Amino acid sequence: MHSIAEQVSLKNLNTFRVEARARWFTDIYKEEELKELFAEGRWRNIDRFIMGGGSNVLFTRDFNGLIIKMRIPGITYHIEGDSVYVTAGAGVVWNDLVHYCVERGFAGIENLSLIPGTVGASPVQNIGAYGVELKDVYHSCRAYHIERGEILTFSAADCKFDYRDSIFKRELKNQVIISSVTLRLSLVPQINISYGAIRQELEARGITQPDIQDISRVVSSIRVEKLPDPSTIGNAGSFFKNPVISEQQFVQLKSAFPDIVHYCLPNSTVKLAAGWMIEKSGWKGKQIKETATWKNQALVIVNAGNASGSEIYHFSEAIINDVKEKFNITLEREVNVL
Ligand code: EPU
Repeated sequence: MHSIAEQVSLKNLNTFRVEARARWFTDIYKEEELKELFAEGRWRNIDRFIMGGGSNVLFTRDFNGLIIKMRIPGITYHIEGDSVYVTAGAGVVWNDLVHYCVERGFAGIENLSLIPGTVGASPVQNIGAYGVELKDVYHSCRAYHIERGEILTFSAADCKFDYRDSIFKRELKNQVIISSVTLRLSLVPQINISYGAIRQELEARGITQPDIQDISRVVSSIRVEKLPDPSTIGNAGSFFKNPVISEQQFVQLKSAFPDIVHYCLPNSTVKLAAGWMIEKSGWKGKQIKETATWKNQALVIVNAGNASGSEIYHFSEAIINDVKEKFNITLEREVNVL
């Protein structure tokens, strides 16, 4: 029988560092343990939350269900021509995988350096930064389907990837548990410096022909400068998504706010920088009790001390209201609220 702990504090398991207790809690170190766990019928019919690094969740209350903490380790790879297929266990820390690949010259995820969280969560969120998204390098993943009681393989098409979105957040939410992810990387680097901040930083360092190590270093230093380090100050990265609106709606908005920061997307839609709107609504660096927005990046909410999950939640509500009032745009949370 798989071992389950009761009444477990989650404070050190979520990067917001808020206190909440899990009614039941279990660690998973091997794919087979998922089968073992769900062989016991009671766990199939109970609220559950699958946890990776705890870097994208806000607990606003105790969790009256089962938390499944994914700790499956291991990285392997095989080479086929110019491609390298790298498979990592769901519990591998994402940035450890980035290091592993960059060190070996496996190109494709260097722009995703220093993103917090684990490999198993990376397809769920379709993590992305600095011009690259997981979907650009994703090959497949293995996942345990709870109802069916079997391991399935999901191709990129199966995952229905979108901006910070996938089938795992929608139709299959809490139905499947990713046990490992395979990426298709390249031995022939295609450097992506589409993002202005990367180009500027490379220039400042006098690097004209960057390799993937340079990109990884530059991305890491941009992140360190802009984003709070979750090991010292509680946060979950971007708290909200950047909203995507129609070109039509954008035209109106732009006439009211000519300098609005935006990116035109291919399908006649426009992505807005939520951080900019939050800043313009007067929220950058603002603190209420022990919750604040980060001084260098208003899209990030931080636990500046001993904030509770519900305080952080109410703080985010106030931001949503003010942005709605000023821009008539409703921000959506990127973080899972439980
Ligand atoms: N901006 C402001 N004020 C702010 C924050 C941003 O004016 O307080 C402006 C910036 O000057 C820039 C624009 O907004 O012109 C975009 O800012 P930034 O480059 O920092 O990126 P972002 O859109 O705020 C997204 C991702 C980040 C990712 C960066 C870099 C989302 C929700 N967030 O942030 O991802 O690191 O791009 O690619 O898409 C995360 O998901 O947790 C995350 C950190």
